[in-house]
Formats: sequence, C-alpha cells, structure tokens
Amino acid sequence: MQQYPYIVTISSEKGGVGKTTLATNLAIYLKAMREDLAVTILSFDNHFSIDRMFEMRGHKPRGTVHELLMGKKADELVHLGQYGVGYIPSSTELADIHERFRGPMTLSRLLAQSGLTGILIIDTRPDLNILTQNALYAADRVLIPVKDMPSLENCKNIFALFDKRGMDKKSLALIPCLIDERIKFEGVFRDQKTLLRAFAANRGYRCVDTFISKSPKVESLNTNPDGRIYPILTHARGTEVHGQYADITRDILRSYDATPESRSCLYAQWLAEKEGQKKEAYLARLEGLTEHCLICGVPLAERPEEREFYYETSDRAMRGFLHGDCFADMLCGTLYGLYNDSQAHNAARAVIADKAGKSVTLFLPREIDNAYTLDFRQFDLAGELAFRKQVPMTGFAEGTLDGLHDRLYLLLNESLAGFEGRLREGSWLAVHPVDPASPEKVLHEERYRTVQKLHAMIGESLAAV
Ligand SMILES: Nc1ncnc2c1ncn2[C@@H]1O[C@H](COP(=O)(O)OP(=O)(O)O)[C@@H](O)[C@H]1O
Ligand SMILES: [Mg+2]
Ligand SMILES: [Zn+2]
Repeated sequence: MQQYPYIVTISSEKGGVGKTTLATNLAIYLKAMREDLAVTILSFDNHFSIDRMFEMRGHKPRGTVHELLMGKKADELVHLGQYGVGYIPSSTELADIHERFRGPMTLSRLLAQSGLTGILIIDTRPDLNILTQNALYAADRVLIPVKDMPSLENCKNIFALFDKRGMDKKSLALIPCLIDERIKFEGVFRDQKTLLRAFAANRGYRCVDTFISKSPKVESLNTNPDGRIYPILTHARGTEVHGQYADITRDILRSYDATPESRSCLYAQWLAEKEGQKKEAYLARLEGLTEHCLICGVPLAERPEEREFYYETSDRAMRGFLHGDCFADMLCGTLYGLYNDSQAHNAARAVIADKAGKSVTLFLPREIDNAYTLDFRQFDLAGELAFRKQVPMTGFAEGTLDGLHDRLYLLLNESLAGFEGRLREGSWLAVHPVDPASPEKVLHEERYRTVQKLHAMIGESLAAV
C-alpha cells in the first residue's frame, strides 16, 4: 500500500455538526500519535478553516484543491503545514468543475494516481453534491457526525446513495457529536448519545464506539484575537473531548493497520488491469490487419505513409489500410467513370478525395438473379447519410475484369468473398479516413469504439429499409 493513500471522508448533509472540527483535529491527532505517518487533509468546502488551521505564517500557498480536481498530481499540491500535517489549500472555485465529476469514481481515479501516501482526510460540504459523492465512494472510512435527530434522519441519503450504486456500506459509520452530557432523560434512553445510538441501530446504521462531547472550551478554539483556529490537542487537553479524539484516532489507526490494500490501491490495480486489457485488445486488432492494400496489392510496409483509409467489414472478418491514392482513384472510376487519362479527372479527383476524407464510405453489394448491384453510400462522421448511388456491377458475377471496375471488384472480392466465389451475403464494407501520420490510432480503444458505433448505426439504418 506504500504508494496509495488510505482515505477518510467526513461527511454529513447538515452543517454545524462538527465535520470540519473532526477532520482537522483528527489529522493532528493522527500525526501526533504516529509521527512517521504521512497525514494530508483537504476540503471541498470554501470556508478556509483548513487553511487557517494549517497554513504556515509567511508561506505563500500555490495550487489548490481546484488544480487537484483538474487533474494535477496531488503530491505537487500538498503543503507541509502546522503540526506536521500536509494540506492542499482550499478553493472558492469548485462550483464550475462539477461537470467533470459526473462519474462517481473520478476522484477515486485521481487519488489512486495521486502519489499520496499515508492517510488522507477529506472534509466535505454540507450537501451531497457530486464532489461529496465522489469523496464518499473513494473513502476507506466515512465518518458521519450526527448531533441530533434531524442530522440522523439526513444520514439516510448517504446510505441510499450506496444502495443505489450497489456499494458495500461497511465503510460508513456514524459518530455522535456535540453531545451535551448534562441532558438526561427518564427511561432506557438515558442521554443524547444513547438515544442517537438506539435510533441509528434501529435504522441499520453502524456507529463508532466513540462519541464527542460538547465542550465550551472546544467551541472557543476558533474565536481568538489571532484569527487562528487552535487544535484540541494543544489547547483543550483538559477536556473530555481530548480523550474522545484520542479514541477515534486509535480506531482509525486500527483499521488503517488492518488494511493491506486501501481502496485507492485496489482502484489503481483495477485501472492497470483495464489498461492491460485495452492494450491486449488493441494488439489483437493490430494482428488482424491485412498486410497489403486490397486495391493495388502492394504490401503496406513498402509505403507506410500512404495509409490514408481504414476499412473493416460488417462481420469484422477483414480489416486493414488502403493507400489514399488507390482509394481516391477507385472512387473516381466507380462513381463517375473518370480515369487517369480523362481531362476532368484531376479536378474531380481532388473533390472526391476530399469528400472521402470526411466521410465513412459504405460498399454493400447486393445479388439479385445472379447479377450484382453495388449500393454505395457516404455518411458524415456523425453517421448521417450524405450521398447514395446504385452502381451496376457488370461482369462481377461472371468474374470478368472489365478494366473499368477492376479496382472495385478486387476490393470487394478480397474483403467480402465467401464460399465458391460468392460474396458473404448481407456483408458490407466500410472505409474510414485515418491520420496518415499515425493510422493505427484508429484501433485505439476510444477511436475504435467510435468506429464500432458508426457501424452499428449503419447496420441499423440498413436493417430499417
Ligand atoms: N466538541 C465540540 N464542542 C463544542 N463545540 C464544538 C465541538 N466541535 C465543534 N464545535 C463547534 O461547532 C461549530 C460547528 O463545527 P464545524 O466543525 O464547523 O461543523 P461543520 O463542519 O459540520 O459545519 C463550530 O463553531 C465549532 O467550533
Ligand atoms: Mg465544515
Ligand atoms: Zn494501394
């Protein structure tokens, strides 16, 4: 688990329940109890308590949580702060990046790749926005402070989120906070914490063994002439709260020690595995490429820079690259009967080549009464039909090469031939433009998925007729 953080998220939809106090002081207690442990804290809230607590006087902070969420590596943003705790400065500009976090695991990915180690504490806003959700899903432990019935009622939304995603809720635990020990009740529920625990248990929520008392001393720690926030560890040692914080810290350290692979570590492994699979799939696609241009027959290795089009049949049996010139010349002849010696050839060819470079070109030969007709179509890159022509394939069935359509017939025969010289019924061939500088990119995961999506759309539009 060396290179991955163990993540503790503090969350509740209610404000004023003690989230930030818990997050910041937990960081200090962790560091105090285990000096050699890296402890980092960050907040998705915009009130700068973290900064006020940990900032070193005179240090100019650079980079904030905003940069972290934009993809900058966390270990470049962490500042060594007071009490040996690392912190990432807060930001007021997180509202505009929610869009990037539509996925629930975006933060998990960022933190798995962050290079952070030890324990990372995340303080959240008092709502369940997408950033909070990401922080919940990324966490090894979620502490949910509750101080009264309304805040306890609110917990159900967090649990419901986990249910909705089918995620294990064992990371979630309530912690009764701001408990006024002077308040006593008649009957079984003697006091606030017993009552909250009973209600939590009744709803199936787990509570940690510790609770945090309400203490005027603790409350006063953020109100002083220096504008600082003082830690409980140094400024409220005489209170019960001190012992309670030590307890919850030991609880966190126990589960940290008992976790050989944190969630971010597992997530990193999963990402690596997925990368590996992607690579394998890509290599398999590369393997399957035809080694020569189907139109001129010349091995593509001879003039690799002329690979300008990628083709694949609807049944995926044949795939490979075509020379740009070969394809453009073939289109000229097939569609317009224009050949190299004709006058109009050069101008028309430029237009045709340009069009093909911006389209997906479809070849669908159809056999009726032993005679073939080519259904030729071009789609724009969004899959909209832009051009269609029926081309009679004179002599194709008989296997005669007429000198005019030779290139087309070679292409179709090589790519779509089935048994006994007939074409594979219903199969078609699609030709996509590629970047000649790196044609194989079309087989990379993302790009290839686009190709497949277009093929699916084409297949559907053919079936609809
Ligand atoms: N154990 C405690 N006893 C008394 N007051 C506390 C205690 N913990 C936190 N507070 C006070 O409660 C208020 C809300 O705490 P805070 O941590 O900011 O909650 P949240 O982050 O959930 O909004 C603050 O004024 C804080 O000083
Ligand atoms: Mg707060
Ligand atoms: Zn060629």
